[in-house]
Order: sequence, then C-alpha cells, then structure tokens
Amino acid sequence: MCGIVGYVGARNATQVIIHGLRRLEYRGYDSAGVAVMSGSETEVVRCRGKLAALENLLKEKSPTGSLGIGHTRWATHGRPSDENAHPHRIGAISVVHNGIIENHAVLRERLRATGRTFSSQTDTEVIAHLIDEAVAAGATSLADAVRKALRQVEGSYAIAVVSNRHPDEIVAAKNASPLVVGLGDGENFLASDAPAILEYTREMIFLEEGDVVSLGRKSVTFTDMDGNRIERKPRTITWTASQAEKGGYPHFMLKEIHEQPQAVSDTLRSRLLLDTSDVTLDGQNLGAIDGRVIILACGTSYHAGLVGKFLVENIARIPCEVDLASEFRYREPIVSGKDLVVAISQSGETLDTLAALKEAIARGGRTLAICNVVDSAIARTSGSVLYTHAGPEIGVASTKCFTAQLAALTLLAVHLGRRNGALADKAAAELVGELVHIPHKMSETLRATGSLRELARKYMHARDFLFLGRGTNYPIALEGALKLKEISYIHAEGYAAGEMKHGPIALIDDGLPVVVIATQGKGYDKVLSNLAEVRAREGHVIAVATKGDQTIASHCQDVLWVEDAPSLLQPLLTVLPLQLLAYSMAVARGTDVDQPRNLAKSVTVE
Ligand code: M6R
Repeated sequence: MCGIVGYVGARNATQVIIHGLRRLEYRGYDSAGVAVMSGSETEVVRCRGKLAALENLLKEKSPTGSLGIGHTRWATHGRPSDENAHPHRIGAISVVHNGIIENHAVLRERLRATGRTFSSQTDTEVIAHLIDEAVAAGATSLADAVRKALRQVEGSYAIAVVSNRHPDEIVAAKNASPLVVGLGDGENFLASDAPAILEYTREMIFLEEGDVVSLGRKSVTFTDMDGNRIERKPRTITWTASQAEKGGYPHFMLKEIHEQPQAVSDTLRSRLLLDTSDVTLDGQNLGAIDGRVIILACGTSYHAGLVGKFLVENIARIPCEVDLASEFRYREPIVSGKDLVVAISQSGETLDTLAALKEAIARGGRTLAICNVVDSAIARTSGSVLYTHAGPEIGVASTKCFTAQLAALTLLAVHLGRRNGALADKAAAELVGELVHIPHKMSETLRATGSLRELARKYMHARDFLFLGRGTNYPIALEGALKLKEISYIHAEGYAAGEMKHGPIALIDDGLPVVVIATQGKGYDKVLSNLAEVRAREGHVIAVATKGDQTIASHCQDVLWVEDAPSLLQPLLTVLPLQLLAYSMAVARGTDVDQPRNLAKSVTVE
C-alpha cells in the first residue's frame, strides 16, 4: 500500500530517500514525509499531497543528515492530511508504517488512560507511542523497544523506526507487508519494494514474517520477535533499474502491456524441452496427482486461474477447481493430501491468497505458488514455487503478470500431463511447438492492434460495457471487464456468451457497446449467433477475431484482430486488445491509469 525507504551511510539521506520514494510513488501518494537525523536530533518534514509537495517543502529546509526514513502514504486509518502523514514522531521516536493495526483502538484507549495524547487518526501513531513507552520503561535497545511494542500489536505492518537516542541506527520489522534490506559498502538501505533501491545495490535481503532488523552503516543484524539472532542470506537481484521505469511509454501500464511477449518468453525460457516435448519446472517434480488441482487467487490472478482449469483438465485430465481466495478461506473447504493446491499471485503478498494457502496447508494439501515477486510471503509459505519472470509490475492494473501466469499454468499442465501420461507424445510436441511461437504471435497482435485512441473516443461516454466469451475466452471476457472498470471507471460486466439469453440480453440496446471474443476454434459458430443476437437489438459490437476471418466484419461495427492459435492458448492473445482498449478508454477519459482511485498494487490488508 504505502512506500517506505530508509538509508544509513555517508550520502545525503534526504536525497536517497526522495529518490527511492519517487520509485515507490505508485504504492500510495496521498501524503509523504521524511525523518532525517541531524546530529542527535530528528528533523521530520511531511505533508499531504504528492511527492512534489514534499519536495517543495524540502527546498525551503532540507535536512542534511546521513541517516533517515521516508514514506509515501495511501490512507487506511485517517483521511489524507498533514497530521496523518508519516513519519509519526513521539518523543525521540519517529516511525513510518505500511499496513493496518487491527487492535489500534484498544491500544489507543489504554495509552490515553496513561496520559498520552494523539495528534493524528492513524494506527501508526499508536505504534510510535508503544515504542516510546517501551523506551521509557527501560528497553535495552531500540530493537528491544520495537519488539516490546510489536508484541502488543495485532495486524499487518512493515515499519521503520529512528530515534534521537540511537542516531546511527534504523530498526525495521515486518509482518504481512513487504520489506527489503539493500546491502551497500559502508551504507545500507531499506525499502518496501526493491526498485526503490535498485540503483544503489543489487544485494538484497527480503525480510520474513516476524523479522526485526537493525541497520547501521556497516552492520545489519536480524533478530526474531524474542530477540534471538537469526541468519538471513542476501540474494543478487537481476532486475535492471530501467526495468522499473517507464521506458519511454507515457504510463507503466502501456509499457507493461508491450512487455508481455518478453515476459511470456522469459517465463517459458529454459523450461520448454523441445527434444522430449516436455517441460521442466526448474527441476521440481510434482509427481502424480491422485486428487484434484485446486487453484486459489484474487482478481486478475483468479482469471488466470479460470483459464488454468481449462489447461489442467484438457492437457493433464486432472479435475481442477478454481476458487476465489477470499471465499475459500472463510468456508470449510475440502482438501486432502492427494490434492495439489496452486496459489497464484503477482505480488505474492495478497493477504486473502496467503491466508487461503495457509488454510489449504493446514488441511493437508500439497502446495505450489505461482508468483512474480521472488521470496514474497506466498512464495515462502508454499511447498514449491514456479516463478513468473515478468519483472517488476508497477501499473496497478495487472497485465504482463497475467499473461506470464497463463504461460506458467500451461507449463504446469504440460508437466502434469506428461507425468501422468495424459499428454501423449504427438499432442505434447504440437503444444510445446505452439508455445514456442506464442511470444512472436503476441508481438504481432500488439502491433496489429496499435493505438485504440479512435475507438476509445467513439465509446468513451458509454455508461456500461458488456464483454462476452466462451470456453477459454470466458475468463478473458471477465478480465476485459475488470480492466475497464478498474482504470476507466466505466461499469462493465463479463459474461459467458451462452448465458446472455438468460438475463443480460435485456440490457442490450443501441447505447450498449458489447465486446465479443469471437475467435475461430471451438464455439466459434455459437459465438457468431450470440453476436447476431446483440446486433438484432442494435447493440454496438466490438469483436475480437482471428486474423483473416472474412465473415466477422459483416457482423459487427469494429474488429480487433489477433493471431491464430489453438483454443487453449488463445487467452494469451485475446486479452491483449482488451488491455489496450481499457488503457485507451482510461486515457481518453483522463483517469490516472497507473494509479486508479481506491486501488493499490497488492492488497496486503483486509
Ligand atoms: O498480487 P496478486 O496477483 O495477488 O493481486 C491480486 C489482485 O489484487 C490483482 O490481480 C488485481 O485484481 C489487479 N490489480 C487487477 O488488474
């Protein structure tokens, strides 16, 4: 949700922090602030608004110290305001926080009863008081005070703390919100997300749940919540700094849409075994599945899971269920040791998906995570992991990670099908051969679709949209509708085309644009008749059709062309024009494409 950056070293901490926060702005930007040590005094500068507002303030008076923490806030408790901006300072303690403290009201009352006063509505200020209280009660170190405070807290947090009494140290802790330490030479970094500090270091340690870390110029010390020293090994991050930037596109979303052929190629690369018409899941063998495959995910990742059902059932002939993680975790799901539970998450930090995964583990399921963020909570919790290699996805609307997830699910289905014999040599050779060509077909489809500016102008005033698809393209209809809602704020519904006659047909009139995925293959004729039903009621049809289809144009007002592919792989292509349509509609309507209202990249709080 929010962005956190910390620095200790010889540089100007304010500059390093602001630079990092700029990279994290997408995580939340209703307010921002820094706390920098100047000698043994902490200077706190914070304000409501975008980072630029903070930078303006800093022009007047910029702290010059070489240790500090900073934050960009996305409001959870307390409206966006100067007072609610982080850092929150109580006595000698300054704190920045990402997450939600669930028992903050109870703690606030208790602290009030001891004579403490509050100047903000945030749950974070409660943490600052608790740490200050622990210091006053004789905590032996800043880390000790932080641990004592956090033991009273229920909820999710990634926090960074500085204190006048410990001017050479930052203490940070994590529970259910991401935090990473960057290792330097005579300097160390802290961030909620690796791109913030990539320009300074590639040696990083991702904090695990319950970790407390103490950062000095030349030392990084990890302890658990009981104060026991623990070892955490650094990893070398291979993402380039430019991968985390817009690369010349006006928005991260557009850049990431165009990165999809690469993302899919990177996800498939080194995993396709052409000689044996097989795949390798990085050497992992998931063995035979005697039960079901159960896929758990949220949002766009859930839509990938719905396509995954077709892949697993068709290719591996294993029954597959797909569940919204936010539903699964609250019922009494039936899971056995024979089942393979697959949690899909771009961020690897989505709380519902993580909780559903833990529920499945508790019920004895074997687990596989399909994640994009290496070492994320879901990846660490799962028994095995298949990473998508899409690189950092910054736009809130998930695009390249969706198609990378589809690629990973295809690999999984082939792996299972080859292990249980359901996928015979010839069919395997054909499928693997098709997969090799998919990235190129994606590039061609993106090129053919081009800019949809004119189409967007035509439909930008529509109040509602309907998306229809069948088979593997039904989840793509759902995804097209989600994308449009999410970034252009137009109400949209995705529907199985065959279900239209059971209700939604009543909506169709000359004011309703209907996007129909009408690619050739299984169900094509049936979709054509759905399309005719829409036309008969004067609905505006935008068809997504296979390149070279001579029939389709006479059935619709607009056509978006995709390359030909087998039905099982079509979603990798048909989603592309729908992403571009949503993007162009959002641009035409002037919404904040990369940071739509009310949304954050990863939902780590309930
Ligand atoms: O990081 P995750 O894949 O777990 O995120 C799940 C959803 O929050 C996410 O896919 C969301 O629906 C996207 N922003 C939609 O574009």
